[in-house]
Amino acid sequence: MSEVKKPVFQPNAEFSKTARVKNMSEYQALQDEAINDYEGFWKRFAEEKINWIEPFTTTLDESKFPFVKWFDGGKLNVTTQCIDRHLDTRGDKTAIIFEGDRGDTQTITYSELSKNVNKFANLLKEDFGVKKGDRVVIYMPMIPEVAYAMLACARIGAIHSIVFGGFSAEALKDRIIDADAKVVITADGAFRKNKPYMLKTVVDAALEGDTPVKKVLVIERNKEEITWVKGRDFSYAELIKDKSEKCEAEIMDSEDPLFLLYTSGSTGKPKGVQHNTAGYILWAQMTMEWVFDVKENDTYWCTADVGWITGHTYIVYGPLAMGATTVMFEGVPTYPDAGRPWKMVQEHKITQFYTAPTAIRVLHKMGEDEPKKYDLSSLKVLGTVGEPIDPPAWKWYYEEVGNSKCSIVDTYWQTETGGHIISPLPGATPIKPGCATLPVPGIIAEILDPVTGKKVGLGESGYMCITRPWPSMIRGVWGDEERFVKSYFSDVKKDGKAVYFTGDGAKYDEDGYITITGRTDDVINVSGHRMGTAEVEAAINKDNNVAEVAVVGKPHEIKGEGIFAYIVLKSSVENEDAERKSINSIIKKEIGSIALCDDIVFAPGLPKTRSGKIMRRILRSIAKGEAITQDISTLEDPSIVAKIEAMVNG
Ligand code: WT7
Repeated sequence: MSEVKKPVFQPNAEFSKTARVKNMSEYQALQDEAINDYEGFWKRFAEEKINWIEPFTTTLDESKFPFVKWFDGGKLNVTTQCIDRHLDTRGDKTAIIFEGDRGDTQTITYSELSKNVNKFANLLKEDFGVKKGDRVVIYMPMIPEVAYAMLACARIGAIHSIVFGGFSAEALKDRIIDADAKVVITADGAFRKNKPYMLKTVVDAALEGDTPVKKVLVIERNKEEITWVKGRDFSYAELIKDKSEKCEAEIMDSEDPLFLLYTSGSTGKPKGVQHNTAGYILWAQMTMEWVFDVKENDTYWCTADVGWITGHTYIVYGPLAMGATTVMFEGVPTYPDAGRPWKMVQEHKITQFYTAPTAIRVLHKMGEDEPKKYDLSSLKVLGTVGEPIDPPAWKWYYEEVGNSKCSIVDTYWQTETGGHIISPLPGATPIKPGCATLPVPGIIAEILDPVTGKKVGLGESGYMCITRPWPSMIRGVWGDEERFVKSYFSDVKKDGKAVYFTGDGAKYDEDGYITITGRTDDVINVSGHRMGTAEVEAAINKDNNVAEVAVVGKPHEIKGEGIFAYIVLKSSVENEDAERKSINSIIKKEIGSIALCDDIVFAPGLPKTRSGKIMRRILRSIAKGEAITQDISTLEDPSIVAKIEAMVNG
């Protein structure tokens, strides 16, 4: 492993000169403003940034904490913020650059975006009867129509719930039912590595049996043959033809829901994270401006999928709210070769590039010298998100991709936070590899001791908490108030008052910089995406041969963490490899390929306390090949540990 020496990198002085936040004193001034007059800070930016239809009367109402209200009394629509307000000055500016898997491109100007979104909104209203507050599930590939679909929902006040295209029919069905969605928007499929793949077939399977869905809208992308269910399935191309390009924006309250996005937690059932209108769009825009520092003529590319929060906030809502040009890519970064992203940077003159450590590791491994083949001089800011970035990947990204002149913004945040929470600002913050550095101005984030609730000292570790409500904070878990309170506001108290706990551990270094050390709960981070061990266990338990299962994370060269399952079978099976295959196929059916196990060990038993609690910590150590340091004498059957250890580590 190559070491990064002297690990502090100053922002590029040339870049800082014109950055929105130019140095650490400007950063500190902003953060002090927030600390000294929290509501005043947010009032100022909400008034400055949002095009209100009616102004808000109260900045923050936390009387029913953790059920908070931001900008109460205000009326707005997210699409007027993202589209209409730009039309006079940026009508002909490119809003979206789309690049398909096979290299086909499309550019969509703000005025074209406006027309497409309005037509789509009219379709949903007129043909599907979608009304304000209705839930619409979107199961789509990365094509411009997914942005139209999201914005069309926002236009008419419907609540979208995007389900990542890699999730299985079962997972899709669960989410449809939980949200009680009556409409699904999908595509026949799309292209990956020059081959068509299908989504509509998955939707068909998800809608078998009883579901609340009445209508399905199908966008034809790969033009493969699909089955059409009469009266349920409709062609977008057909219906969109005669729709008007004008559609009044629904007048929304600040706290009307904007979308749901399901994410994994520590129980078997994913939770529908709810984000509301004003606070979310404000922070999406502000962080775009501060963290990526996108300028009027920049071209910004975030490689995420819209099925995750990164795609929501930093491909669609944030960039469009600030009037930027955002790139959307259908394909995979290594096709046709590991130079694809760099070729795209060169061709589109990308100025900000935002991706995940897992992608950086793949690109590094498969194409170490690829960046040299392209002109990457347009790049100004590089970003990462999803997991801590390891030093070798960081070094390559900084030196080879960024030519040692671009700041790397290591952005720490979550589905629940709506936008960045901890991150360097590219013109201001000296950066250190693998370190998310400092709270973004306005965010009061502290590492607390879970027992005393006190802020830990320099060099110390604790729980990553946010101690004041912030505008883009999760507003609820759909249909489950209790779970909302319990999941986020029950672990840590500061001065006797519950605070938001992220679920992550973190550490202050000697300069007070924050390094995220990983989840403290039973959640694994696979390729920058959260996977609850309980969810994977629930899927594995559906296999008839399985008596007991415990799932843990194990470090993985590319994915960050891989999934390691310890399984106790009801009775031994003849062919263990066939059983492993059968278990993974159940996972694929119940959740999707992202949750496949890398390792499956058939154990003689699981290490449990006398009260029956599985000691996952021991299993994690064994999976990593670490020595067991904790006391195992109190286990129900201590001898199990040595047996499993021998099986796994020989
Ligand atoms: C979890 C959130 C935020 C969008 C993508 C994932 C981990 C996220 C970082 C980072 C270290 C990170 C945390 C967090 N995480 N960013 N820069 N450094 N860890 O969204 O699925 O909601 O997952 O990802 O563990 O809790 P998500």
